[in-house]
Amino acid sequence: MLRVEDLDTPAVIVFLDRLEANIARVQSLIARQGIGNRPHIKTHKIPAIAQMQMQAGAVGLTCQKLGELEVFVDAGVCDDYLLTYNIIGPHKTDRLMRLAGRVKRLAVVADNDVVLRGLSEAGLRHSRDIPLLIECDTGFGRNGVQSPEAALDLARLALKLPRIAFEGLMMFPNTAPHTHEFFTRAVKLFREAGIKLPVVSGGGTPALNSLAEFPMMTEHRAGTYVYNDVMMVHSGVASWQDCALQVRATVVSRPSPARAVLDCGSKVLTSDQYYVQHYGRLADYPGAVISALSEEHAIVDLTAVSKRPKIGEVVNVIPNHCCSVSNMNDEVHGVRNGVVELTWPVAARGKVR
Ligand SMILES: Cc1ncc(COP(=O)(O)O)c(C=O)c1O
Repeated sequence: MLRVEDLDTPAVIVFLDRLEANIARVQSLIARQGIGNRPHIKTHKIPAIAQMQMQAGAVGLTCQKLGELEVFVDAGVCDDYLLTYNIIGPHKTDRLMRLAGRVKRLAVVADNDVVLRGLSEAGLRHSRDIPLLIECDTGFGRNGVQSPEAALDLARLALKLPRIAFEGLMMFPNTAPHTHEFFTRAVKLFREAGIKLPVVSGGGTPALNSLAEFPMMTEHRAGTYVYNDVMMVHSGVASWQDCALQVRATVVSRPSPARAVLDCGSKVLTSDQYYVQHYGRLADYPGAVISALSEEHAIVDLTAVSKRPKIGEVVNVIPNHCCSVSNMNDEVHGVRNGVVELTWPVAARGKVR
């Protein structure tokens, strides 16, 4: 029997009780709204966890990149996927079509006519219809058409192009009031134009507390909720006790009374601050923050902590952004009651193409 103390550091652990509770809680939260739960796998990148999400009642899965999708389709986790990324060029659209032939439904998004036409040509090459959602930017400032009118124009083109099966709209993340205003107007515009919107797909873990404000959504895509992290605690959607993924790290130096150095740097935690200060928290030392990172060192500021960790002690770090930690590590260890129950390879780690 392997105990958690037996793991060499740095090691990524997942508290299985917390993981299971997070999956169950969010599934029932979304189901209570009467909409579909379509978890985003980019947080864990592990087919076995997606299987747990499906068994809990998810309607399907979301992937961001084709490479992730290939891993999950190979694993046979489910047969209904949404790929929330503009897919450009014949190399990628051919991969998409091959994957579409292996599942019941594979929908994809587009926010411009170049992507739409490329998908249509690929559909013709492979004699396959591709379900499509128009991606809308409702305030995040990333991909997405900029207005409900632009969404309608692109939908009209999608309806004209061969092999495109227009299904609706998608956005990330739900924010009030922008998303609400954008989608209320969009739904009205589409209704007046006589174009049906069977799918309106919203997303984001921080938005889970305000699902009721978005009655036009038919499904919700959350990812980070399976593990949670400092950002989710700050956004008020999770507590420290809901943080399932933690990084076990050894205190390798105490150069001064208020400073500890851990053996996990940016090559484990990443330097993604994710809209909050610092680079992570020490779970068992409230007030201890990771104030700086170099590649293999995490600098912990202990100023606010009276009881301080010793050299050689192993501490648990709650990262700012758990999704990027997943992508940096080969495996995560599932832990229950101090025992390592299993080790999952992070199968879609690094699948960014
Ligand atoms: C398109 C899309 N949908 C859903 C999600 C999931 O959001 P969260 O990680 O906040 O749960 C993301 C996260 O990056 C995303 O990019």
